[in-house]
Amino acid sequence: MTLALGVLISGRGSNLEAVLAAIKAGQLDARVAVVLSNNPDAKGLDVAREYGITAIVVDPQLYPDRLRYELEVVAHLKSHQVDWVVLAGYMKLVGKTLLAAYKNRMINIHPSLLPEYKGLDAQKQALEAGATHSGCTVHIVTSKMDDGPILGQVTVPVLENDTVETLSHRILVEEHQLLPRVIQKLSMMN
Ligand code: GRF
Repeated sequence: MTLALGVLISGRGSNLEAVLAAIKAGQLDARVAVVLSNNPDAKGLDVAREYGITAIVVDPQLYPDRLRYELEVVAHLKSHQVDWVVLAGYMKLVGKTLLAAYKNRMINIHPSLLPEYKGLDAQKQALEAGATHSGCTVHIVTSKMDDGPILGQVTVPVLENDTVETLSHRILVEEHQLLPRVIQKLSMMN
């Protein structure tokens, strides 16, 4: 079935763009119904609009608490009849309200081979740990950060002279392949 996706972003939006490009190229049977950003300055908002996708800012600072903020996010997702939620560089923790509305229908992409290097600066964590390999993971979102059943992973080598930038770039190239591939798997299962 053609999945209706709601993509949550906070920044650059390169993973969002990879999904939109895969759809456009006919490699992914899905459509992005709406893009939501908690950050008014997210570059990904422009990416969405370039593809003609509705892109909405829901600024948490304008809500008294996380419950009210997430109720607004869920209202947008529901009004666009979203089937699956994709966290693509969404830098906020997901709370109970959003989780309950899309339980087992929300995925996240993370730049490490989970369960290693959860949280912020995963690439830096890998370098500091002296890892010889890292990579990226797409998983189902649960109440624990960067946790939940793994749907796909790609391994990349860590090279001797890697900096956070070079390693991040090598991982990002794989993220852009992995995310559309996992969504396509979901679309074939739904
Ligand atoms: C990616 O590295 C993703 O794995 C992480 O945040 C970054 C988002 O990049 N969760 P972009 O906004 O998709 O370019």
